[in-house]
Amino acid sequence: MSAPQMLSVRNLSIEFGGVHAVDNVSFDVQPGEVFAIIGPNGAGKSTIFNLISRFYEPTAGSIFYGEHDLLEVPAHRIARMGIGRTFQNIELFEQATVLQNLLVGRHRHMRPNPFLEFLFLPGVKKNELEHRRKVEDVIDLLEIARYRDQRIADLPYGARKNVELARALCAEPTLLLLDEPASGLNSEETDDVSFWLEDIKHDLGVTIVMVEHDMNLVARVADRVLAINDGKVIAIGTPDEIRDNVAVQHAYLGAAA
Ligand SMILES: Nc1ncnc2c1ncn2[C@@H]1O[C@H](COP(=O)(O)OP(=O)(O)OP(=O)(O)O)[C@@H](O)[C@H]1O
Ligand SMILES: [Mg+2]
Repeated sequence: MSAPQMLSVRNLSIEFGGVHAVDNVSFDVQPGEVFAIIGPNGAGKSTIFNLISRFYEPTAGSIFYGEHDLLEVPAHRIARMGIGRTFQNIELFEQATVLQNLLVGRHRHMRPNPFLEFLFLPGVKKNELEHRRKVEDVIDLLEIARYRDQRIADLPYGARKNVELARALCAEPTLLLLDEPASGLNSEETDDVSFWLEDIKHDLGVTIVMVEHDMNLVARVADRVLAINDGKVIAIGTPDEIRDNVAVQHAYLGAAA
């Protein structure tokens, strides 16, 4: 018997007032791979993430995370199940420091009962130290030590983007959904992202699904690519196969025309 897929999406569809934003989409993500979703603006990429995160209820189809039927899971339990994400428009607490934002990222591992925390103070101390250690590991990995005590609102764009990735990693996800991790970054910052994604995959063993427009980055880090247009699957394959695919080329040319 084959091992279960990390993520298994079948015939997924959603409509917004007659617009088929996602239309009968199926794909599997294997444990340990970097899986990219590409397509022109408005193709339905972020909507797929919003369906997996359970922000949106599909009109049809299924989403399995390992053996878990995600359509049975409410949105607030998704992070606790080990699914982390970043957003196309960075979502951080602007007035809080980098460190405070990262500690919020640990939330899914925190004890839910403050009364118990009060009764078992020594244990809490240990717990708190453990959270700090995890956060420090991520700070080292993504090289953001110099920003640690700065407010998010005072950071340059590239650093904010980086902190959002760090915040997602602090939750120790099994599956990470990244919506355009390199958008708005210069080529040097994009290089950094490609190295970090390799580290996240190889050293942390996290499975990554990434929406991205930068095809150079996709070609460097993705094992497989799903190309969509108008909510529909055009092709699934290796980065080379997708780049050479005539239907994919037409989708982009059509979108540009
Ligand atoms: N909440 C919503 N209400 C109505 N329409 C929506 C909603 N969310 C998405 N859509 C529509 O669904 C389609 C797909 O949008 P989506 O944001 O998924 O595109 P995308 O592929 O992420 O594009 P981009 O590359 O520009 O980020 C668009 O036509 C969009 O207007
Ligand atoms: Mg989008």
